[in-house]
Amino acid sequence: MLTNKQKCDFKDNGFIVLPGFKSAAELSALKARANTIAAAHDFDDSQEVFSTARQRGPQADKGQDYFLDSGNEVRCFFEEKAFGADGALIQPLAQSINKIGHAMHDLDDVFRKFSHGEKLAELALDIGLGQTQIWQSMYIFKQPRIGGQVDWHQDASFFKTTPHSVTTFWFAVDDATLENGCLWVEPGGHKTPLRQKFIREGRQTKMIDLDKTPWPDTDSAVPVEVEAGTLVCFNGFLPHYSAPNISDKARHAYTLHVTDAACDYAPENWIQRSKDFPIGGFV
Ligand code: FE2
Repeated sequence: MLTNKQKCDFKDNGFIVLPGFKSAAELSALKARANTIAAAHDFDDSQEVFSTARQRGPQADKGQDYFLDSGNEVRCFFEEKAFGADGALIQPLAQSINKIGHAMHDLDDVFRKFSHGEKLAELALDIGLGQTQIWQSMYIFKQPRIGGQVDWHQDASFFKTTPHSVTTFWFAVDDATLENGCLWVEPGGHKTPLRQKFIREGRQTKMIDLDKTPWPDTDSAVPVEVEAGTLVCFNGFLPHYSAPNISDKARHAYTLHVTDAACDYAPENWIQRSKDFPIGGFV
């Protein structure tokens, strides 16, 4: 699937942009299903917000259980700015959800179809993933006006394998632009150290600092503006971030985090699978 030049670019830059990877029909099916799941969310069951703050310190509350158990479920998380001072939603429910996670790729028929297939398997092989394992799926809404910033981070902080293998498959469901909060990456930044690791100890989680290398700035980072249907594939060590969505347009995206079964998956990673819910790959 990839040319030799594309394979070299992926190794050198840590990411590759593949326009037109998914068809308009595939995107609209996924978006419709995501909107249905969001609209059906039981507001009384959880008002859990997706927040990078949750990933910093030890937590032990109802929200922590909701988050931890989402690793092998299909659950909705709210935008931080979804709620007014009175605790009520500012926008309709379906326009207040930050993301759905984290096992739709195995548990939902529409997501399963989108997340598997020979085309993905062939691409994975080309970038060095011999035997894929899909640990996590996220449907990110980046809602108009309230879609929050995602701070600089490296996805390998959440999926340690030995040797390193986690790779992110980021599908643009809508056009991603500077205005609606496209990805920013640091070309070549996958060669910098892993700054942090996120680990699970029982029912608690914590983020541990590993390396003080600064996050990229506007001199070294580049925006990745792409059209809907584009797949951006990147090394788990690549620093990336996205700005808030201050526009009136949604910026839906779908991500998969994939490791190589030939590498040891760390027992302290927050998502684990049991024998009755085995981990699988693209085919
Ligand atoms: Fe990420």
